[in-house]
Amino acid sequence: MDATVSTAETSDAAAAPAAGWQRICRVDDIPVLGARRVARARGMDVAVFRNDRDQVFAVLDRCPHKGGPLSQGIVFGTSVACPLHNWTIALDTGCAQAPDEGCAQAFQVRVDAGEVFLDRQELASLALEATAPVAGPACRRSATD
Ligand code: FES
Repeated sequence: MDATVSTAETSDAAAAPAAGWQRICRVDDIPVLGARRVARARGMDVAVFRNDRDQVFAVLDRCPHKGGPLSQGIVFGTSVACPLHNWTIALDTGCAQAPDEGCAQAFQVRVDAGEVFLDRQELASLALEATAPVAGPACRRSATD
């Protein structure tokens, strides 16, 4: 199953909690202790995580160290371990645990009646300048490359 959700493909469900929130998927669509990627019209994907307490977090899918795909990391508590060099990233802030430094962009999440929503304005405007690594293990190619 493709783990990527496109914001262009999700509907403006009548169940949206408020204007300005983009429905992404159901909480149950995110694997426990895993993530799904949300493709944006511009900018890198956003990784939407679910922990073992069904808390949902959203962080740019780019580790602040060397750009590793956080969506492929291991979720524990309210953190994710980057799959490349095992930095611990707090899912609520996107920041690396000391002594490591740096933050990935975090996004607001709302969960309403089991549905996950991201702020439409944030999706369209935050971290658009961040780019995926072009070489090395953090480089990801799309299925069309
Ligand atoms: S790229 Fe994430 S820890 Fe190095």
